Amino acid sequence: MNLLYNFLFFILFSSVYFLVNCQNVPKARYKQTSALVGTNLYFFGGETSFYVATNEVWYLDLSKSFNTIIPPWHEVIGMPVGYAYGSACVSPIDNYTVFLVGGRTSLPNTTNYILSSAVYEFNTKTSQWSTPSINNFNSSFARRNEMQAVVDSEGRIYSFGGTDYDNSTTSTNYNDMNILDITTMTWSTQFQSQSLAYIDYAATLLPNGLIIYISGREVLALSGFFVDMNMIRTFNTNSYTWDTKIANGSTILSRVGHSTVLTQDGNIILYGGASLNSSGAPATIFSDLAVLNTNTWVWSIPSTFGTKPPPLMSHSAALYKNYMIIAFGQNATEVYSKDIYILDTRNYSWVISVI
Ligand SMILES: *[C@@H]1O[C@H](CO)[C@@H](O)[C@H](O)[C@H]1NC(C)=O
Ligand SMILES: *[C@@H]1O[C@H](CO)[C@@H](O)[C@H](O)[C@H]1NC(C)=O
Ligand SMILES: *[C@@H]1O[C@H](CO)[C@@H](O)[C@H](O)[C@H]1NC(C)=O
Ligand SMILES: *[C@@H]1O[C@H](CO)[C@@H](O)[C@H](O)[C@H]1NC(C)=O
Ligand SMILES: *[C@@H]1O[C@H](CO)[C@@H](O)[C@H](O)[C@H]1NC(C)=O
Ligand SMILES: *[C@@H]1O[C@H](CO)[C@@H](O)[C@H](O)[C@H]1NC(C)=O
Ligand SMILES: *[C@@H]1O[C@H](CO)[C@@H](O)[C@H](O)[C@H]1NC(C)=O
Ligand SMILES: *[C@@H]1O[C@H](CO)[C@@H](O)[C@H](O)[C@H]1NC(C)=O
Repeated sequence: MNLLYNFLFFILFSSVYFLVNCQNVPKARYKQTSALVGTNLYFFGGETSFYVATNEVWYLDLSKSFNTIIPPWHEVIGMPVGYAYGSACVSPIDNYTVFLVGGRTSLPNTTNYILSSAVYEFNTKTSQWSTPSINNFNSSFARRNEMQAVVDSEGRIYSFGGTDYDNSTTSTNYNDMNILDITTMTWSTQFQSQSLAYIDYAATLLPNGLIIYISGREVLALSGFFVDMNMIRTFNTNSYTWDTKIANGSTILSRVGHSTVLTQDGNIILYGGASLNSSGAPATIFSDLAVLNTNTWVWSIPSTFGTKPPPLMSHSAALYKNYMIIAFGQNATEVYSKDIYILDTRNYSWVISVI
């Protein structure tokens, strides 16, 4: 009996091993950006080692049942540059063009940072890359990174703050709102003069047009401090006005490198992130899951089921149907993950497969 069991176990695992090795799979990375196009979840770039960014583009085909043991990976033509700390926005006009906005760009697989286009356009139907020409482009945005852009249903991409730090000795941090209208390819810059520069937050657009900025760092010239989880900056895309919502409920530690998704019932689900030490390196990488109810502005920490992911920062998260899909990220000091994790957001159950 035992022998048979062991034999079956061996067959099962060796075939999993065989399949895993035959299939082309991405190696571990962090600081990539992701975007859901139909049933394909795309991943752009990411650093495969400290400050070395890849130009690779992968996607997970979620159209059939899938699991986290043998994720349905596919690779497509890479970006023109190595890419990290950027944002990917899917055009709501055609639902298949992806705009990569901001980001640190380098010669692929090198630490040679190049000043290049701030916006790349990717046609997911033809797998072709182009650099759009933009009216009134603000050249101060050319190297902008460490911020998260969102796109509204009219095709306006909102990108708040960020830094032009790219491993060089001097840099500037920003507190402006840069808006790219993809229907006219026109750029505009708005200001929020009363507050500090802002980087490393997580941005979420609500259906009512409010962009929610969670935690991250406010930055003076040489130092930064964490933004309280309960002091939530919001930008109203209808009136172009700023506000601060005061949240309460469970105590959640401030952080950078966290990810958020919005569920249909108006909950923002947050995973991971890290605190930093005084030299800017991760001090504690978090593994907590927190939920912000955007109707009541109350934070809660739900009970979860299943096997939790490890602590992760600079990973990515996307919502597909009722599933939050978390991918890659830094899982320990200078260790990067190649794994994906799936949360059933209906009951906060970590699952390994989606039927
Ligand atoms: C794009 O997707 C949105 C939301 O699902 C839908 O309302 C719209 O009709 C789609 N547009 C096209 C051109 O497919
Ligand atoms: C970057 O490195 C990866 C593997 O480490 C390789 O597959 C890829 O071709 C390299 N890209 C470039 C543009 O050199
Ligand atoms: C960027 O940082 C890396 C890691 O600290 C270093 O090896 C590299 O020389 C730096 N590159 C530039 C262009 O400054
Ligand atoms: C471009 O952005 C910079 C930095 O926020 C700002 O100082 C400048 O006024 C902007 N230019 C225009 C034309 O909006
Ligand atoms: C949270 O804030 C709301 C409104 O500001 C208040 O009514 C409520 O009592 C607060 N709850 C807690 C737990 O502090
Ligand atoms: C911060 O963490 C890094 C990486 O672990 C370490 O090399 C550095 O010494 C730490 N700095 C301080 C001030 O603790
Ligand atoms: C971190 O990721 C690497 C690569 O996927 C993996 O080998 C390692 O076990 C992971 N560490 C943790 C704590 O999950
Ligand atoms: C979570 O919900 C899914 C879908 O309703 C269900 O299949 C699963 O059994 C639930 N898991 C737990 C732990 O309740």
